[in-house]
Amino acid sequence: MGEQAKFATKLGIIATTVGSAVGLGNIWRFPYEAGMNGGGAFLMVYILCVLILGIPVMCAEFIIGRRSKSDTVDAFRKLAPGSRWHYIGYMGILASVLILGYYIVISGWTLEYLFRALGNDLAGKTAAEFKAEQNAFIQSDFRPLLWTYLFLIINYVILSRGVQKGIEKMSNILMPLLFVILLVFCVRSLTLPGSSEGLAFFLHPDFSKITPQVIIRAMGQAFFSLSLGMGILVTYSSYFTSKTHLIKTASTVAVLDTTVAILAGVIIFPAVFSCGLDPVAGPDLVFVTLPNVFNQMPVSALWSVLFFLLLTVAALTSTVSLFEVAVAFLINYMHMSRKKATRIMILVIALLSTVCSLSIGSWSHIRIFGKTIFDAFDYFSAIILLPVSGLLISIFIGWVLKRNISREELTNRNKLHEPLFNAIFFSIKYIAPVIIILIFLSGFGIL
Ligand code: TRP
Repeated sequence: MGEQAKFATKLGIIATTVGSAVGLGNIWRFPYEAGMNGGGAFLMVYILCVLILGIPVMCAEFIIGRRSKSDTVDAFRKLAPGSRWHYIGYMGILASVLILGYYIVISGWTLEYLFRALGNDLAGKTAAEFKAEQNAFIQSDFRPLLWTYLFLIINYVILSRGVQKGIEKMSNILMPLLFVILLVFCVRSLTLPGSSEGLAFFLHPDFSKITPQVIIRAMGQAFFSLSLGMGILVTYSSYFTSKTHLIKTASTVAVLDTTVAILAGVIIFPAVFSCGLDPVAGPDLVFVTLPNVFNQMPVSALWSVLFFLLLTVAALTSTVSLFEVAVAFLINYMHMSRKKATRIMILVIALLSTVCSLSIGSWSHIRIFGKTIFDAFDYFSAIILLPVSGLLISIFIGWVLKRNISREELTNRNKLHEPLFNAIFFSIKYIAPVIIILIFLSGFGIL
């Protein structure tokens, strides 16, 4: 992408950035994290993290990207020559590789469900049967891997052609469709018998459940869901035009992304309670509960197909963005062709995702700090790396880069009257770093 492409339209800018943000993180990861970490309490802390940390850090990444117009490592080199700040870029690449390692596995699961839905194989089963089948599927060696590799091939096709046209166009059409479908499912789920109990679990905060652990996990989820701390928004914002309103774009993306996560919760928790399932189920929550909801709808096969198709697309717009961080770096810095860079990354991720997938079944005895490889990748990247690099990015903008540069970017060189500039800059400089550090210290029991 070194050719300084630009996104074609305003809608394209929003749809592509939202396409990166909205993914399995919203529909798969958010509900199970909320389920395991206190329901309504988690939701409340999560929303605070998005507002207080997410939007300012996103603005910070936008400032770096649009100012430098470069990949994430080179961006820091340009803005702070001769310093070590570009290590943040390397951290981002490490995080993207770790996240892809397990994200692709889950994306493979969505293909399996899409396939089953197409064969009308999800109809007429009980909740217990879904659970047993899902366990058998994810613990087997070969089948999940086949889907994982297929998903990698799809990524290869899109990435090797260059992202701009494919992804921007695809996002323009499919992201709005995703919203509509989610709304329809919401209505269905809310009208299930016994749905109010699930809704109360999800929306009613029980303050006694807010622990340092809940807070640190909510922060990790916010960074993960908004695609922060990894340099992808640095890369995407280098394709923004000089007219793009950065603060407005950041807020719109944050609001849309959070809305999708909340809709996912509103769909899943009433269904969980209505079907007598356990909200603390963990990573397979979505794959077990949603087919149950579909089963209670007329033409259930159609809904299943539609849903898993959209989930696949949401995953795809996110994985492409995850890949793009490393691919853009290899192209610009190692002077590789796009094809070669993509091929190398696909191979690396094929290896890692194989390890992650097996670690759920045959290799589940291998533990890193007591976690399976799959969980360890997730924990280390989402909970540690993303917030740490978010912390460094905000310190960089707040304390290293000249304040005037941030002002120029956030006001489009004084063309916009921006009453929020001072507040946002204050958040980047003081609030975000202090809060991230406090959350880490208390989460690790130091405070
Ligand atoms: N935000 C995406 C999701 O919620 C995942 C993702 C895409 C991501 N790009 C990222 C996470 C960059 C962190 C950093 O599914």
